[in-house]
Amino acid sequence: MAEPKKLFIKTYGCQMNVYDSARMAEAMGADGYVLTEDQGQADMVLLNTCHIREKAAEKLYSDLGRLKPLKADRPDLKIAVAGCVAQAEGQEIVNRMPLVDLVVGPQTYHRLPAMARGEGPAVLTEFPAEDKFDHLPQTRNTRRAPTAFLTVQEGCDKFCAFCVVPYTRGAEVSRPVERILAEARDLVSRGVRELTLLGQNVNGWHGLGPDGREWQFGRLIRAVAEIDGLDRIRYTTSHPNDMGDDLIAAHCDEPKLMPYLHLPVQSGSDRVLKAMNRKHHAADYLRLIERIREARPDILLTSDFIVGFPGETEQDHQDTLRLIETVGYGMAYSFKYSPRPGTPAAGRDEVAPEVADRRLQELQALLTRQQKAAQQGMVGRRVGVLIEKKGREAGQMIGKSDYLHSVFVEAPEAAIGALVQVEITESASNSLAGRLI
Ligand code: 5AD
Ligand code: SF4
Repeated sequence: MAEPKKLFIKTYGCQMNVYDSARMAEAMGADGYVLTEDQGQADMVLLNTCHIREKAAEKLYSDLGRLKPLKADRPDLKIAVAGCVAQAEGQEIVNRMPLVDLVVGPQTYHRLPAMARGEGPAVLTEFPAEDKFDHLPQTRNTRRAPTAFLTVQEGCDKFCAFCVVPYTRGAEVSRPVERILAEARDLVSRGVRELTLLGQNVNGWHGLGPDGREWQFGRLIRAVAEIDGLDRIRYTTSHPNDMGDDLIAAHCDEPKLMPYLHLPVQSGSDRVLKAMNRKHHAADYLRLIERIREARPDILLTSDFIVGFPGETEQDHQDTLRLIETVGYGMAYSFKYSPRPGTPAAGRDEVAPEVADRRLQELQALLTRQQKAAQQGMVGRRVGVLIEKKGREAGQMIGKSDYLHSVFVEAPEAAIGALVQVEITESASNSLAGRLI
């Protein structure tokens, strides 16, 4: 038998890309490729890219530059670019970097094996009529891990003025219930105990149920929760306007749904929210948070913020700081606004970079204080931890708390995959430590 071909994958960006990389590995696996962690040994290097901010997109080109000597040494090495930069730039990538052999978008990567065999175009970025999920291997071949991602929804129809997602990922599509449940059951039969349901606008999922009717997202969560052997469910990312009553209720009474919610607000200023086309006010968001906390008082809330959006004034910035004070986040991501080609905000007058930098620092200082306080508040508490892997020190394991904190704990290696109770003893900058109860 011939040596299997080796595939090296680098994934940039969000969890949807992590999921897509796993699916591309499975599709290429059916063609005899095995994964390698050593780029130098690879027969094919696949870069699964992100276009959300300029910095993320530029990383592709610096990595391609670094691949030049390898390709010069081994001209038969195939270099493929997938993901959102592939979708946005297509043929441009090959024009700028002729060492790239294949370019494939997020909706066409089921065709990658054929493209790699030379049976198809070298650049494929249209939105095809067929559903890629129908053409991917029907069983998942995960690394043996207790957690997994499962994409239930793709694309976005919201068109926030700063965001490339509606252009790179396309219109919103919800996968049908039965397909999602089949994939979930398959993952659980392989030892997965925690599933994170993914979508660019996941809580806007509305898919066809087995009863022939359209279901809402809360109902999907309850159906997934019925799978024996599955202990935990999470989902990301959500839009405030799609936080339905059924979903909020599930946070109250579905024990497998974890007390954690990533609910990006982007800004606390109504003026900026309007300019961003977010379609809600700051007060709507705050009322929503109250209702979610009524359903699940201990829920840990996280968010995304964009600082220095075109037209943002000092008062707008203060409004955002005040919203953060009011909500009290367990953690949050914040970004300096980055104009993206083709988006409505791209041509607008920008905030001076030094002003945006200073505002970002102020915002991050506040968020760090809140994160520290929230983590400190965990010390002395007992919490469920799903043990995922070995830690750096001997005898140490790492897992995730119900609230998605990383937790270090002394435990035997056999505990990997077990959901244990831990008493938290210490809080570090980005993790907690505890002991098994
Ligand atoms: N500039 C800066 N941040 C952005 N995000 C999306 N588009 C941009 C942009 N053009 C941020 C938003 C979003 C997160 C995934 O990335 O906060 O929620
Ligand atoms: Fe982008 Fe999210 Fe807005 Fe959709 S809802 S346009 S993915 S920021």
